[in-house]
Amino acid sequence: MKYRLVLALVVLVLVPFLITFRVSSTPSAPPPSPTTAIADTSGTSLRSLAQKRGVSIGAAVALEPLQNDATYRKVLAREFNVLVPENAMKFAVIHPKRNQYNFAQIDTLVAFAKAHGMQVRGHPLVWHYSLPNWLEKGNFTREELKEILREHIQTVVGRYRGQIAVWDIANEVVTRDGSFVDSIWLREIGPEYLDLAFRWAHEADPKARLYYNEYSAEEISEKSDSVYNFASGMLQRGVPIHGIGLQMHKLVTWSFSSSVADNIKRIGKLGLEVSITEMDISIAEGTGPREERLAKQARIYGDMMRVCLSAPHCKTFAMWGFTDRYTWATSWLGTEGAPLIFDESFRPKGSYKALEEALSR
Ligand code: G3I
Repeated sequence: MKYRLVLALVVLVLVPFLITFRVSSTPSAPPPSPTTAIADTSGTSLRSLAQKRGVSIGAAVALEPLQNDATYRKVLAREFNVLVPENAMKFAVIHPKRNQYNFAQIDTLVAFAKAHGMQVRGHPLVWHYSLPNWLEKGNFTREELKEILREHIQTVVGRYRGQIAVWDIANEVVTRDGSFVDSIWLREIGPEYLDLAFRWAHEADPKARLYYNEYSAEEISEKSDSVYNFASGMLQRGVPIHGIGLQMHKLVTWSFSSSVADNIKRIGKLGLEVSITEMDISIAEGTGPREERLAKQARIYGDMMRVCLSAPHCKTFAMWGFTDRYTWATSWLGTEGAPLIFDESFRPKGSYKALEEALSR
């Protein structure tokens, strides 16, 4: 059993490097009509409750269910006021060829968000993963690669200027020892690519809030120290960074630690915002009856919402999806993951009720 737990934790650390395969298809159907979703008139949806508490609540959204599942659209629009593109904005999707951008998927998501009064969180602009072959194998010079990155950032941010207010400019670039994750950007341009990325995005939309997004950096730890030092350094250099995204991909075996609140507090002391950006809690690796694991999952969701609500600079609480029917964890942990707040039939789980309770106090 211990081996399985260690394996799960190792796998969890490798999470962002795992290629996960989901059924997806380029959208053929027209964007869903604005009337598709039913607005919340009862005032008891998570979205309504969150609005009263001054926090935004969001979910990562996949194109395929948005296009083909009316219940997905209805629940998404009723319960959330922030939409995060799960994959539609990744470099390989949005910039498939050197001189070709493909905005169709993002435009569909932005249109849906606009129709339902939702904010869109741009995710991600710069990452070491989901890069197209023309870029990885292009043998570009340092100057050519800088120009490719500048043009990518300013084309994408510029196109959605005034429509996308918050961006994950850089995603998962810091390691525990404070060095940087290997990538074509780091190898060919050097660590200064990160300052450049934030400066270029700010030039393209001076009003946008620019975040650095990271996993396993929620508690006080070597890694969160590295993220803290990275962000402090950028502020000292006058780089326009406005917030830190804490992903919160967790297993139900994780023990909620009060140091999460301490970490969020110290980020706030830098003058930065914090957002929970990708929360999900897989129950696949837990022990004991499923009901007990689901109850622990609910406690963690509720505790995390209370931590965010207690920090005025914690602006958004977003999950990596919202229904167990469509979660990346399925392709990674199998159907046992059940990491989200609605079950596969869109019924609210204990974790939904835990969020509702935390928001209602
Ligand atoms: O769309 C293609 C499809 O046409 C093709 O048939 C299929 C098989 O090759 O691949 C499909 O693309 C997959 C895509 O998900 C959409 O399903 C990619 O291979 C696969 O790598 C991609 O995985 C995504 C992963 O990021 C890598 O981009 C996951 O869905 C997504 O949930 C995951 O999300 C990341 C965040 O962006 C950053 N934080 C960690 C988080 C979890 O890893």
